Amino acid sequence: MCGIFGYIGRNGSVNLLLEGLKRLEYRGYDSAGIAFLNSTRLSLYKTRGKISDLEDLLPSTERQINIGIAHTRWATHGVPSTENAHPHAVDGIAVVHNGIIENFRQLRQKLLSVGCSFSSETDTEVVPHLIALNLKKGLSMEEAIRAAISELQGSFALGILSERTPDTLYAVRNGSPLVIGVDGDNYFFASDIPAVLPYTKHFLILEDGDFCKLNCRGVEIYNLYEKRLVEPGHRMTVIDIPASQAEKCGYEHFMLKEIFEQPGAVMNTLGEWMDDPLSILDELHLSIRDMIDIERVQIVACGTSYYAGLVGRYIIETLARIPVDIDIASEYRYRNPIIKKKTLFISITQSGETADTLAAQREAKSRNAHVLTICNVVGSTAAREADSVIYTRAGPEIGVASTKSFTTQLAALSVFAIAVGMKRGILSREEFDSLKRHLMKVPEAMEKVLRLDGWIKEISGNFINARDFLFLGRGINYPIAMEGALKLKEISYIHAEGYPAGEMKHGPIALVEDGVPVVFVCPVDALFVKTLSNIEEVRARGGRVIAVTDDPECLRDKAEIVMTVPSIHSLLSPFVTVIPLQLLAYHIAVLRGHNVDQPRNLAKSVTVE
Ligand code: AGP
Repeated sequence: MCGIFGYIGRNGSVNLLLEGLKRLEYRGYDSAGIAFLNSTRLSLYKTRGKISDLEDLLPSTERQINIGIAHTRWATHGVPSTENAHPHAVDGIAVVHNGIIENFRQLRQKLLSVGCSFSSETDTEVVPHLIALNLKKGLSMEEAIRAAISELQGSFALGILSERTPDTLYAVRNGSPLVIGVDGDNYFFASDIPAVLPYTKHFLILEDGDFCKLNCRGVEIYNLYEKRLVEPGHRMTVIDIPASQAEKCGYEHFMLKEIFEQPGAVMNTLGEWMDDPLSILDELHLSIRDMIDIERVQIVACGTSYYAGLVGRYIIETLARIPVDIDIASEYRYRNPIIKKKTLFISITQSGETADTLAAQREAKSRNAHVLTICNVVGSTAAREADSVIYTRAGPEIGVASTKSFTTQLAALSVFAIAVGMKRGILSREEFDSLKRHLMKVPEAMEKVLRLDGWIKEISGNFINARDFLFLGRGINYPIAMEGALKLKEISYIHAEGYPAGEMKHGPIALVEDGVPVVFVCPVDALFVKTLSNIEEVRARGGRVIAVTDDPECLRDKAEIVMTVPSIHSLLSPFVTVIPLQLLAYHIAVLRGHNVDQPRNLAKSVTVE
């Protein structure tokens, strides 16, 4: 959570810092601040609220600067307030931080005992104090930073600016993401790549323990603890994503743009492997024997990625006949999991930086599992730490509510299942080819569902005052019911529950009364008839039925609203059934006046446990 951005070079401006910060705002948005050097004097502006509030404070955004740092915050320690906003400055040293300094209470006590006074409640403020204290002891700036960091426990990415060294910016990565962008004499650091994409395609992806000095002579990367100079050459990566992918491109919100990008994103993801789906297995770096011998798959993920995993379980078990366990990452590592030798561990994460997922992945690695991650962000921590990576090709996802990352995860899981099923001899060549053809038709089917957008916008108005929503589905569409409920609650703040339809009579049916909207995700499949009975049970209690189905005629007299999706292979139906639910949540939230890209209390990358 939190976004940090820094610049040093010859063509900077306050506006450049603000623009960088705006592209990171999805990571946190309860307060913001910037610091830059005005000749050698530190100028500091910060405020509670959004970056637009910060902009109002600044004397001139056109103002030229050569060096500056910026921060957008998701509060962990201390309420959202101007005092707690970053940068935190002490004696001309300004610091921006993403992560948590776990031992800050002890450090704060120690600093208080030697006469330091604090102006915030944050964990971060101990950092500039420690550096300032070290400088007073006669250490150089670099030594002072190293000594300060050696006292910190926890995860952090730090950007540091000092009046003492006006030609140098410092950046440290230890557990929280940080990249360096290089454009000739201009250098940037940022929490993610899209923040810097308008300026350069050349990136250095930092690793934990990296300590960087950025100045007009270039970038020097040292290992924090061994003080060894790291050769940056082999770390240099060219990221060729058009900067427009991280812009709204005429859409009112990133979320809507990303919903509409799904057919293309799924096609890109499938396109990697569809000529030869078996080639996805090359990414695993497992021998054919090891692949055939897999006895169990363990999937771990959070939020929407967890629901993609639940769908993946159905697909892998059906097509590859391997038993699949799935856990929510924050629960997995604390239950002393059993990992046998022939278990394949799969983490699913859009960002590759979710703290709970990373911790679970590390737990599995420490128990000698082969770790595969299905991830969207190239060079992310999950991708670097895993034994193998299958990348989704969704492009940058900026809206806090996950949409295209979900359907591209489904695409990766489907190709994986088909390929493993074929390799293990579960699928015949005919079945394999037929599934491949069905998969290739998915993007076109998704396009058709998107045509419902205008109509879904209209009918959404009928539900904006609902207090509760129920989402029900069976089989492979039960996770879609859960995802529909998550989308609605996180952006509209309407209470919503997702349940397996067959479980309704064991409790949730008590919520159904006159006027309660109940969404049934019910494409025609082996369980369709059973779901029809559940629909009758809801109608009998006055519920307002919304049905997502490929058999509108059958539902016409049973549902108040019928959202028709194309008929596709039943194992692939989640690709199309999820889209009306994303659109419904989006339009209800917009009509209720919410900022759908930045819902309250949330952040895109959850980098704290
Ligand atoms: C859902 O809309 C949220 N964005 C959230 O549940 C998200 O899926 C979760 O935090 C996991 O993120 P990840 O895929 O980046 O690991």
